[in-house]
Amino acid sequence: MQVIVTENFTESCKLAAKMIADVVRNKPDARLGLATGGTAEAIYPFLVKEYQEGKLDFSKVSTVNLDEYVGLAPDHPQSYRYFMDHNLFNHVNIDKKNTYVVGGTGDVEKNLVDFRRKIAEKPIDIQLLGIGENGHIGFNEPGSTLKLNAHLENLNESTIKANSRFFNSMDEVPKQAITMGIGDIMSAKRLVLVATGPKKANAVRGLVLGDELDCSNPSTVIKVHPDATVIIDRELADMIGYKAE
Ligand code: PGA
Repeated sequence: MQVIVTENFTESCKLAAKMIADVVRNKPDARLGLATGGTAEAIYPFLVKEYQEGKLDFSKVSTVNLDEYVGLAPDHPQSYRYFMDHNLFNHVNIDKKNTYVVGGTGDVEKNLVDFRRKIAEKPIDIQLLGIGENGHIGFNEPGSTLKLNAHLENLNESTIKANSRFFNSMDEVPKQAITMGIGDIMSAKRLVLVATGPKKANAVRGLVLGDELDCSNPSTVIKVHPDATVIIDRELADMIGYKAE
């Protein structure tokens, strides 16, 4: 696992966007694994900019997203389908038919079957990841075991609290989500994880400095991925006492 320390969060986002853009430039029909949340929201504008400047073509690209809240319809402003449309897809020349965010409403079992089938269709060339305050990737929450495949996850208290910033109140935050499993994430050819801020310090310390695969910090599994890059800014690196070699 490679760790890159940048000058600041904006530089981290630019670098992650460049890594994704380079994958598409090398392979125009690449399949991207995408993420949502505050970190991803800061990365997508750099991809949109590349497209607007004529440096990136999404016409043959396909995408699959990590997760979706259970109970939120695609047109709900906090659904991850809505997030993707508004932060990326509506601003580039991607064919929406080639984008996939698992459904959050209707029959969960049916949605899971559909998600698993979709994941199996084609390998992901690069998967973007954020990290939860509790170390989750996708919505794979800490626990005594981690699941390999797409599944229904009960969100833990810390995740609900962290995500409540996007809702009017804690009560409105969905309590469950459908997420790719750890095995799905690890099957992507490349992983790029971006983290910033003091709230992520504990999780990132375990990921970057620890020498354990720790189910109580699910992100640690990416240590054994053959092509994983973790991008943190200097402030976070200093906070956790990480020194680049
Ligand atoms: P954030 O979420 O980018 O909104 O901090 C990341 C995550 O929970 O995976």
